[in-house]
Amino acid sequence: MKLPKGLDGVVVDQTKISSTQNAVLTYAGYPIKELQNAPFEEVVFLLWHTRLPSADELKAFRKLLVSKMVLPDETIRLMTRIAKEPQHPMSILRTTVSLLGTTNDVERDDPPRILGKMLTAIAAIIRIRDDQPVMHANSDWGVVENFIYLFSGERPTAERVAMFNTVMVLHADHEFNASTFTARVVASTKADYYSCLTAAVCALKGPLHGGANEKVFKMLETIRQTGQEPTAYVNDQMAKGRKIMGFGHRIYKNGDPRATILREIARQIAHETDNDAYFALQEQIRDYMFEKTHLHPNVDYYTALIYHCFGLDKKTFTMMFAACRTAGWLAHITEQQAEGCLIRPSSEYVGQTNRHYRADKEEM
Ligand code: ACO
Repeated sequence: MKLPKGLDGVVVDQTKISSTQNAVLTYAGYPIKELQNAPFEEVVFLLWHTRLPSADELKAFRKLLVSKMVLPDETIRLMTRIAKEPQHPMSILRTTVSLLGTTNDVERDDPPRILGKMLTAIAAIIRIRDDQPVMHANSDWGVVENFIYLFSGERPTAERVAMFNTVMVLHADHEFNASTFTARVVASTKADYYSCLTAAVCALKGPLHGGANEKVFKMLETIRQTGQEPTAYVNDQMAKGRKIMGFGHRIYKNGDPRATILREIARQIAHETDNDAYFALQEQIRDYMFEKTHLHPNVDYYTALIYHCFGLDKKTFTMMFAACRTAGWLAHITEQQAEGCLIRPSSEYVGQTNRHYRADKEEM
């Protein structure tokens, strides 16, 4: 029996939420290219209801989501202790999500409340670690504007909100990626939302998945700090059998459609924030990687620079990914719980057979 490596190409279930069929990313049938400037709230509605909202529904939904961008004081108090620990922010987030699932009012937590809490908690972790006060959402602003305000402490310009909106829309879902599939496996046992989300955060943390964005920026910093030629860096890493972070994708062998859009945002914001040198370096690495390996950049390659230009520390980049992807995780958990059955595959046993305990013990 020839097994597909890492379930490559194996269809494990059906979904109405999103698709990467023919390497085109669609949300409920709409190509991502057409949704890239749609308001994040509208895309969340689409993922949760598999239809677009009317103008009135969108207005009400935005208001609802923003009203949920708040955490009980007791949660903030407990989070403050956890967030101050020296562990990686994704480890802090993992514990925080678990904590969110243990508060008094957790039975009332539905997807809008959970999304609001997740965004607020992620921003709060950043603020607490930076010894800054935790901010409060403004009910007159949208989700993206509030989210930037909550983590940065400053009201962003409309241009910056539009850029971050696109980043959030592009990350919102991606069918059965590793973290979403993990969430669905947990959901298939009928576990609660927070258990599923905690597991999803764990899967996202790894550098082959969401953890790649932090590593991308580390690579850029290393090359600039050491003054190494990017080509020499790539050759050296690959000669050591290491992967170049932010390149390659299980589904997109001819380029990640999200990276194409993000590249332009990275170029623009890098220019506006005096980070052109980083973008130029990314272009050099991209060209050389294509020449050497025919691999294309993935979604994490450009977000690394975009997040840096938003003033974020590289260790928080994967939390940003989690903030955006929570919308998709929630859609998939709901779908799995409503329509799916227990996910329990089988394995091919390749260990020893026909052993006998007594006989082996006597021989010892
Ligand atoms: N750098 C160097 N070589 C690479 C890279 C890379 N980034 N990606 C793939 N390759 C090579 C592999 O070494 C392998 O070579 P081989 O056939 O000679 O052994 C070949 O390309 C196929 O790679 P696989 O890892 O088998 O392909 P797979 O589909 O399993 O991997 C993955 C996809 C895990 C994303 C891979 O490309 C990778 O590790 N990339 C770097 C990490 C990264 O950027 N992850 C983020 C992905 S996007 C996301 O999750 C949001």
